[in-house]
Amino acid sequence: MAATAREWDASTYGTLTLPHERWGRRTLGRLAPVGDEVVLELGSGTGRDAALLLAALPAGRLIAVDGSAAMVEATRAANADAVAAGRLTAFVHDLATPLPLPAGSVDAVFSVATLHWLDDHGFVFGELARVLRPGGRIVLEYGGAGNIAEVDEALRAIGVEPGGHRFATPAQEVPLLRAAGFVDIEAALRREEPFRPGRDLDTILRTIILRGYLQTLPERERDAFVRTVADRLPGGAVTYMRMEVSARQPAEESPCDTG
Ligand SMILES: C[S@@+](CC[C@H](N)C(=O)[O-])C[C@H]1O[C@@H](n2cnc3c(N)ncnc32)[C@H](O)[C@@H]1O
Repeated sequence: MAATAREWDASTYGTLTLPHERWGRRTLGRLAPVGDEVVLELGSGTGRDAALLLAALPAGRLIAVDGSAAMVEATRAANADAVAAGRLTAFVHDLATPLPLPAGSVDAVFSVATLHWLDDHGFVFGELARVLRPGGRIVLEYGGAGNIAEVDEALRAIGVEPGGHRFATPAQEVPLLRAAGFVDIEAALRREEPFRPGRDLDTILRTIILRGYLQTLPERERDAFVRTVADRLPGGAVTYMRMEVSARQPAEESPCDTG
């Protein structure tokens, strides 16, 4: 049972109270834009962080991509003024394929809770290196090794092999970033306090965490599958382990540097 279809339930996602909101603010704090940059956001979801980014980029621009048409529509709707003003371009794009952007065309890349949905991080980092200008930066956060381990344990206990995500370690990511040409690389895992969503637990499992597994089940079996997994989460909690990556493209060599 693996995740395949890229469509997400954007309207339900938008109603949930999620730690992603905190991760978005934290990642923006790490990016700390000056305000005139062209920033690329990977996996913009409902456009919550796009709004924060646009507020931090009064003289800049945001390019937001997401694999789900419903999410891209939500990003546009949440930031309609910026779309009208030409400060936000949002489009559907599968990050497993080459970005339709010219080389050296963005100053920075921002992403929250998206990269772990992709298998080939080497490919993604290579694409980011290509579209960044010399000296441009990436500031990314996503699920890392050990993320929501309670869910994987619950799945194994009912005979389902966890899959559809890549929860990597810093030791796996750093060589890929280096191979893509990045410098000043930082990659670290951050363990969050256990998250207890209470009555939202089933909806969060259905909309986000178990989304890929449910796509392979008939609708009539989905609620029972969600409940079976939820019942096996100790205290109804999940523990997020976040990967925080930042890195920079080397600055262009000046003629003096090359002698
Ligand atoms: C958990 S949501 C995070 C959304 C948003 N960044 C947030 O923090 O709320 C993951 C997002 O990644 C997007 N995504 C997953 N796989 C993708 C892919 N292959 N290409 C582009 N986007 C993808 C999904 O459509 C979804 O919007």
